[in-house]
Amino acid sequence: MKIAMIGSGYVGLVSGACFADFGHDVVCVDKDESKIARLNDNIMPIFEPGLATLVRKNVEANRLKFSTSLKEGIKGADAIFIAVGTPSRRGDGHADLSFVYAVAEEIGEYMDDKSVIVTKSTVPVGTGDEVERIIRDIRPDAKFAVVSNPEFLREGAAIGDFKRPDRIVIGTEVKWAQKVMHAIYRPLFLNESPILFTSRKSAELIKYAANAFLATKITFINEMADLCEKVGANVQDVSRGIGLDNRIGPKFLHAGPGYGGSCFPKDTLALLKTAQDYESPVRIVEAVVQANDLRKRAMGRKVIAALDGDVRGKKIGILGLTFKPNTDDMRDAPSITIVQTLQDAGAIICAHDPEGMEEASHIMPDIQMCEDPYLAIKDAEAVVIITEWDAYRALQLDRVKQEMSGDALIDLRNIYSKDEAEKAGFRYFAIGRV
Ligand code: UDX
Repeated sequence: MKIAMIGSGYVGLVSGACFADFGHDVVCVDKDESKIARLNDNIMPIFEPGLATLVRKNVEANRLKFSTSLKEGIKGADAIFIAVGTPSRRGDGHADLSFVYAVAEEIGEYMDDKSVIVTKSTVPVGTGDEVERIIRDIRPDAKFAVVSNPEFLREGAAIGDFKRPDRIVIGTEVKWAQKVMHAIYRPLFLNESPILFTSRKSAELIKYAANAFLATKITFINEMADLCEKVGANVQDVSRGIGLDNRIGPKFLHAGPGYGGSCFPKDTLALLKTAQDYESPVRIVEAVVQANDLRKRAMGRKVIAALDGDVRGKKIGILGLTFKPNTDDMRDAPSITIVQTLQDAGAIICAHDPEGMEEASHIMPDIQMCEDPYLAIKDAEAVVIITEWDAYRALQLDRVKQEMSGDALIDLRNIYSKDEAEKAGFRYFAIGRV
């Protein structure tokens, strides 16, 4: 199969490289010339474990190419994937579809007479209809189908998620397009990954419903954690106790500082907007969005409370800035709000993150970034673990304590125990447990 991937961001690049690895001929297209030039030099625009190796292997095998020209890239393609960004539109939270529609127009101008156009970008219900209308207007006689094929990739584990998916969702009722999609995903089909054919609208909604449900699970356990703290229970025991029920499942029940990242915050908001447009309230999702927003500030206040309500002029060491480990992505990271809350209260912030400091320094220019976790906590009154990077799971707590001037360890990811922290001389504050 010949595949064109329009948009070489996170989703496009991972999907393109994995499709090439399946044996397809793939061209990844992006308007950003410097990005394409760097990709041709095997320099990845994002940090994703295993991606550079996978890209190199498939470029060398001549199955994966990069181009700035959509026109060239889609020539002879059996399927054209749209994988451009759909950020939250400023002001109203709707997904901004201008990139998707602009690409649809270009596809309409340059595509062959027969092609499958696949939206991989996360797009609200009905976007496929609009993409189809745009292309149909330009090419009234072409034989084409617009398919929804949402991705469920987690950053940091994207290649594994792509190659061993829980399911593949393909939204089209057009038989010949189903066949093309089937051929594209054949290696996964042979691996017995479930492939679900649905209507286009159902596929579009599945993506939002999945992310909203996962965000709900996290927010639910976060609120349970707050309750655990009040009543003196242990949220990790509660998680395990409910997660062993097969109907609930153990995953996404880790209490923490609130969810962040490029998907959950944006997709839950977009789902709210769609629900409003259709006058079909999604009250649970509304509550989730609100609770998660409030939680991030509450985490800042938790740190302030650990320092007896006063952080003015005090140095606080932050470990972990990215929204989760194994990524350099800072989008909607809880650290941004937590740091802001602490700075508003007069704290001085020093931070370390294994991959995110470069990006974080643009968002938080007035905090000091330290090359080493032990430098970030030096002379600090408190240390706050915001992201559960492996590098922070095995800190020498004795050394951390000695380097600090204070004794508060605020562990927002529950990676230490009260016992070991107290043994090192800390006052220990966790999430939803002592
Ligand atoms: C998510 C979805 O998992 C993926 O299917 C979708 O395609 C894109 O959005 P991602 O944003 O990469 O992927 O991160 P994920 O690992 O799902 O974590 C999202 C956020 O939830 C992080 O901030 C993480 O720290 C938080 N989280 C996750 C928790 O606080 N507790 C949990 O138990 C799980």
